[in-house]
Amino acid sequence: MTTGDRGGRRRFLRSFFASPRQVGAVLPTSRHTVRNTLSLAPLDRARRVVEIGAGTGVYTRGILDRIPSDARLLAFEIDTNLARGLEAGLPDPRLSVINDSATELARHLDGEAADLIVSAVPFTSLPSEVGSEILGVCRDVLAPDGAMLVLQYSPLVERKLRQTFDSVERRISVLNVPPAFLYACRTTADGAVLQG
Ligand SMILES: C[S@@+](CC[C@H](N)C(=O)[O-])C[C@H]1O[C@@H](n2cnc3c(N)ncnc32)[C@H](O)[C@@H]1O
Repeated sequence: MTTGDRGGRRRFLRSFFASPRQVGAVLPTSRHTVRNTLSLAPLDRARRVVEIGAGTGVYTRGILDRIPSDARLLAFEIDTNLARGLEAGLPDPRLSVINDSATELARHLDGEAADLIVSAVPFTSLPSEVGSEILGVCRDVLAPDGAMLVLQYSPLVERKLRQTFDSVERRISVLNVPPAFLYACRTTADGAVLQG
């Protein structure tokens, strides 16, 4: 583990103790689970990518490693300390860190659609109406051939995902503490286009 990893974990834990329901986990997602999630869609073809609930940036780094050099990544993080740490630790011209709620996503996208949305927002511990609002906004901004990848620590959100999207695939990542439920959601029934 590097010094940066340790600093990130401390920051994450502090944010968890300050707002446990908002952060929703005591540890950042494992690298294995990040790889597993990001394998659910072809990031090498995505141009406009959105991450919501970026935390210490474990997904942010994985996304930047996989998207094209001319792509753009908007990373939303509501916690100011986490957002600042992320911005300082990841100087990449493709990345904009946005210290705002994912509910404000459409305003920041300025009418553009997202090819890919990656979410680790804790839907089961957030107020239900906030979770529903975030899912609705994500569905609205998703490009017709796009995908939303969702990480959760419980399958409780699955019903809402199925109500919001036309196709939902599920995978379970056991090499994570706790085991993680990974979803790929699409607005087309076959979801074939971004899937490749
Ligand atoms: C379970 S943590 C995941 C962090 C990181 N992506 C990871 O996988 O380790 C959830 C993150 O979502 C953030 N969050 C919660 N509600 C949010 C909202 N409405 N908009 C943006 N971020 C939010 C929390 O502050 C926290 O950093």
